[in-house]
Amino acid sequence: MAKYKIEVDRETCIGDQLCCNEAANTFEMDDEDIAVVKDPTGDSPEDVLTAAQGCPTDAIILHDEDTGEKIWPEE
Ligand code: F3S
Repeated sequence: MAKYKIEVDRETCIGDQLCCNEAANTFEMDDEDIAVVKDPTGDSPEDVLTAAQGCPTDAIILHDEDTGEKIWPEE
């Protein structure tokens, strides 16, 4: 099961909060209504990927933790 290095691009996040709904144990909103990673292993990789794919601005960036391969957004 792939694990991801998870980043949120603060310049791109518009505070949609879908990520917090899809992977509530991984993401939370900070004081500026920007998503932050609170626990990279809080949810399954599938749920993290679903959250990233659902973000309307592709603000969530996933890399394979083992290989460094960029998983999302797709190039
Ligand atoms: Fe931001 Fe996308 Fe989440 S806009 S709050 S990273 S769904």
